[in-house]
Amino acid sequence: MDRKIISVKAEILRELRNTKGYISGQEISDKLGVSRTAVWKVIQQLEAEGYDIEAVTNKGYHLISYPEILSSGELMSRMTTLWAGRRVYYHKETESTNEDAKYLAEEGMEHGSLVVADMQTGGKGRRGRTWVSPAGESISMSLLLRPDFLPDKAPMLTLLMAISVAEVITGLHRDLDVKIKWPNDVLVNSKKVCGILTEMSAEPDYIHHVIVGVGINANQTLFPEELQDMATSLRIEKGEKVDRTALIIGIMEYFEYYYGIFAEHLDVSDFVDIYDSYLINKGKEVRILDPKGEYTGVAEGINDSGALIVKLSDGTIKTVSTGEVSVRGIYGYV
Ligand code: BTN
Repeated sequence: MDRKIISVKAEILRELRNTKGYISGQEISDKLGVSRTAVWKVIQQLEAEGYDIEAVTNKGYHLISYPEILSSGELMSRMTTLWAGRRVYYHKETESTNEDAKYLAEEGMEHGSLVVADMQTGGKGRRGRTWVSPAGESISMSLLLRPDFLPDKAPMLTLLMAISVAEVITGLHRDLDVKIKWPNDVLVNSKKVCGILTEMSAEPDYIHHVIVGVGINANQTLFPEELQDMATSLRIEKGEKVDRTALIIGIMEYFEYYYGIFAEHLDVSDFVDIYDSYLINKGKEVRILDPKGEYTGVAEGINDSGALIVKLSDGTIKTVSTGEVSVRGIYGYV
């Protein structure tokens, strides 16, 4: 489907959503500058996709309900941001949205472009692991950024994304106990619901682009036995299906806002308190798997650069930078 058709569909959906009562085909056609036949065709398409649209003679159309589907139209008609996710590239199925975003970056696509997929066949996790993104259940998305700061600041973008995800899940689902495992796994009830993979193309003093890839276990009902102690989905924890589009839009809103604050100081000083309030490791014993030598200490929180502050038993303070090491709780996954 070409971009023009997608955006007309998104705009018609937006009109239907923003109208409390009925909106006539003529009104939509005047507002959007498209023919009434085009409007009618889009309405037919929407109905075929599961939107329940009431059509009343002399009154017009009224959106009664919409399905829990991911689509460009859904995302673009509900997106309220200025730049983050304003342009969405949606795939029903793709290998990896991070790879798609890389390709788009090389094609010159703008800062804030977002690739979303309903399913990935070759999703990538951190440290060369794979990430499973089943159709109709997961969220796989990659945000393309073109920052004008130095490459050493980029890892902090991952923390901003982790806070954004944690904030949105908390805001939409107040009953869930949301935490972050440093640096960037988002957990619900101590099990992982979200992983973030940030990849950068840069020279020593210049960033070409950064891709922040986010995978969320949204509506899975079952995990393989070997993962059941570590991974869960929002649906399992909440006991009901969640709206993936609302989550994606919320995350883009938060990330855009936080990115604006971050860009002023180029550190996470404004986010330390909020991050620490989510930090599951805070005040707990952690084992630092440093290639130069493992050690144990108590995690105290993060510093202005996003490094984890760890106090050793002899009172020595160590700061652990992202990417350098892996952190394990003493008992189990966290
Ligand atoms: C992790 O290992 O915790 C990070 C997982 C990141 C998965 C996401 S899904 C969207 C994007 N595309 C990928 O191939 N990976 C990231």
